[in-house]
Amino acid sequence: MAIKTRTAIIAGNWKMNYGPQLAANFARDIVPELGRLMLLYERIMSILCPPAISLAAVRQVLDEHPLTRIELGAQNMYYEEKGAFTGEIAPTMVSELCSTVILGHSERRTYFGETDEMVNKKAQAALRHGLRPIICIGEHLEQYEAGQTEQVIRTQVLHSLANFSAQRAADVVIAYEPIWAIGTGKAATVEGAGKVISLIRELYNDMYGSEAATDLRILYGGSVTPANIGEFMAHADIDGALVGGASIKQDFVEIVQKTIETLEQ
Ligand code: PGA
Repeated sequence: MAIKTRTAIIAGNWKMNYGPQLAANFARDIVPELGRLMLLYERIMSILCPPAISLAAVRQVLDEHPLTRIELGAQNMYYEEKGAFTGEIAPTMVSELCSTVILGHSERRTYFGETDEMVNKKAQAALRHGLRPIICIGEHLEQYEAGQTEQVIRTQVLHSLANFSAQRAADVVIAYEPIWAIGTGKAATVEGAGKVISLIRELYNDMYGSEAATDLRILYGGSVTPANIGEFMAHADIDGALVGGASIKQDFVEIVQKTIETLEQ
């Protein structure tokens, strides 16, 4: 396989699983092996994204293993700096503990009414505070079946990814997650996902130029497992995965291992 120029990212979205105690226990279970794998292969980054209330507990475990390079990410944040926003967390609070923040996950969009405009404000706030946003986009089953995927993706890219400064545009990470593939055990085909991901890169090229589009990392998400990650990683345009269900099990370590094996071939 041709050497990929972009460092791969395997991010684990723990969703609403593991409070501080269980999160720390699970992190202690996987961090030593994960860290060892990442020492063997440098061109991969792995990011753990526990619930907000468990971030400090997982941070502490990572700090006990300072050589591991494993990063920490939040699953959401608000775009305002501070103030009367009960229940929200601010970018500065996230950046005290994390390098990364997932934004606009389809569950945030579906259950909590997040729009492309809100996601865009959050992404801009993340970049202002030195956080790496992983911005999620993807189509619903009905849109997929109606052949509207391309149109939906175009609209989401145009609105969620608008107005980044030229120098920060390459720091953005996009996760293409077809909603019908999330948590269903029915991953997209590599060909299908690859096609949409290539379109996203083209659109980004039109918005921010070829350098930013070449550096942009685009992940696939939706029922990623140790059994299918290799196929996705073998695609030239797919730079990693956003993993849900398999990220709260030992499977996550196996996914990172399979990713490395594929990239080393
Ligand atoms: P899944 O979730 O891997 O459980 O399908 C992916 C995601 O929601 O990011």
